[in-house]
Amino acid sequence: MPAADEVPIAKMHNWIIRLETAEGDAFTPIGLGLRGGMPAHGHGMTVEPRVTRQLDDGSFLIEGMKFHMGGEWRLMVGVGGPKGPDQVSFDFEVAGSVVAVGASLRDWSAAEVAVMQSLTLSRLPAPKDPSNRFSGDAAAAELGGKLFFDKDMSATGTVSCATCHDPKLAFTDGRARSFGTAEVARNAPTLIGVAHNSWFYWDGRRDSLWAQAITPLESPGEMDNNRVDIVRMVARKYADDYTAITGIALSPAADKWPANAGPFTDKEGRTAWERMPANDRTAINTAFANVGKFLAAYMEMLQPTGSRFDDFVAALADDGYPAAKELLSDDEQAGLKLFLDGGRTQCLRCHNGPLFTNYGFHNIATGISENGMPDFGRSVGLQAALLDEFNCRGSYSDLPQDDCSEIRFVGDAHGSYGEFKVPTLRNVALTAPYMHDGRFATLESVVEFYTQTPEPHIGPHELPELELSDQEIRQLAAFLASLSDTPEP
Ligand code: HEC
Ligand code: HEC
Repeated sequence: MPAADEVPIAKMHNWIIRLETAEGDAFTPIGLGLRGGMPAHGHGMTVEPRVTRQLDDGSFLIEGMKFHMGGEWRLMVGVGGPKGPDQVSFDFEVAGSVVAVGASLRDWSAAEVAVMQSLTLSRLPAPKDPSNRFSGDAAAAELGGKLFFDKDMSATGTVSCATCHDPKLAFTDGRARSFGTAEVARNAPTLIGVAHNSWFYWDGRRDSLWAQAITPLESPGEMDNNRVDIVRMVARKYADDYTAITGIALSPAADKWPANAGPFTDKEGRTAWERMPANDRTAINTAFANVGKFLAAYMEMLQPTGSRFDDFVAALADDGYPAAKELLSDDEQAGLKLFLDGGRTQCLRCHNGPLFTNYGFHNIATGISENGMPDFGRSVGLQAALLDEFNCRGSYSDLPQDDCSEIRFVGDAHGSYGEFKVPTLRNVALTAPYMHDGRFATLESVVEFYTQTPEPHIGPHELPELELSDQEIRQLAAFLASLSDTPEP
């Protein structure tokens, strides 16, 4: 059995299992089935791992394992043998969640320090997207940066990505629901650290940053443009950059393409798109995907730079409490204690790791918005990701289909009604209002929400029922505000 710190939290990985008879001989079953879950919480895995291969030594490779929170897990293996079906179950722990919290502020236990270190930026790997051939390419990132701030990307010439993702507000817009060419239904998330996600949008309807980046260009209310116009604009303004990066010239036929054409525009534009020769459409889609890949290369560079919380943990680990205590106020430290206290708050179940998110989807009873409209969240987002022609398995991705493990092992959409992506808590003080629909104006009101169980909601929710005093609510909010990147001197 793996030890608790051997099983990574919220990361797709593989297992190798070996089956033996009671006598200790290797055993080869006729069939194998897998089912995992957390017995204490009564929920399953968010992915569907599968046995994909028998290895030379008789053991089996299981691909697509991912455990989205710390705690006690059980993996049941159904085994088909010559004498009929049998079942073995493995109980194991995924580390990184529940901690017993020390009494006073000066008393930080080794276990607390270890969990705090798992939350610091020193544990954040550099992002890399193998489905994007320009991931990590400096020239592509530079062009992506120009496109990000270019209003000619929108149909009206008035909206750029930065309209809703303003660097001064940690790449958000300060609005409950964003406004581009019109108002949209959701709140703009921060883009700092976004490249570390496996799924994008509150409902995860895109499976890569580049496939995400081309979506607002054609969305009504956001930039409302069409892909033919985008490629024509790039040919007009950035042709040399484009060719230098990709090694291909943009089609000289761009001027002859219809002005309004694309699969998501009005009826006239859709008809014009359908009537274009298939190889023109492929060339346009390729260039359009490249625009997304440049934008993604730019967004990969938007990384958190470090907060007072990170400094506090480093000082605590290296020099002890007297050196650390000046870095966070007493209220911030009390809030941090609460945040770590699995018995009191359970925040770490979902907000863990260096970006304070497990990158997963959870239902915390936010599926009905204030005006009574339901938002199904992940269940619809997952279907959309599977249908997206720019997903990891599609022909514009730079990764072989078999390596697209997130989309290959994705779980059942029907279990995910009302689930939304767990947002990062880094820089959260800069990104008000909060939640997918911007329903809360302050951090205090978000934390207060966790002390109530609202009705109605969609699907079975996982909202922990917490008891916190007004002072504790303020302290948790104060701690969250200490997660902002320290401005450059
Ligand atoms: C009209 C405002 C608006 C514009 C313009 C806009 N966005 Fe967004 N962006 C949003 C909103 C709102 C969401 C969340 C939508 C949702 O989840 O349904 C979002 C989500 C995202 C996400 C996903 C973040 C995450 O955590 O999953 C990324 C990345 C992103 N936008 C990048 C861009 C880029 C690149 C552009 C320009 C091509 C752009 N946005 C243009 C408002 C906007
Ligand atoms: C079961 C998983 C889960 C637990 C436990 C949890 N959260 Fe969340 N949190 C979420 C999800 C999912 C959202 C987004 C919900 C939405 O947008 O509708 C969220 C949103 C937030 C936000 C808003 C951030 C933003 O950018 O909009 C804050 C702040 C937050 N949580 C703090 C906390 C704190 C503090 C705790 C512990 C008291 C906690 N959460 C416990 C899943 C969880």
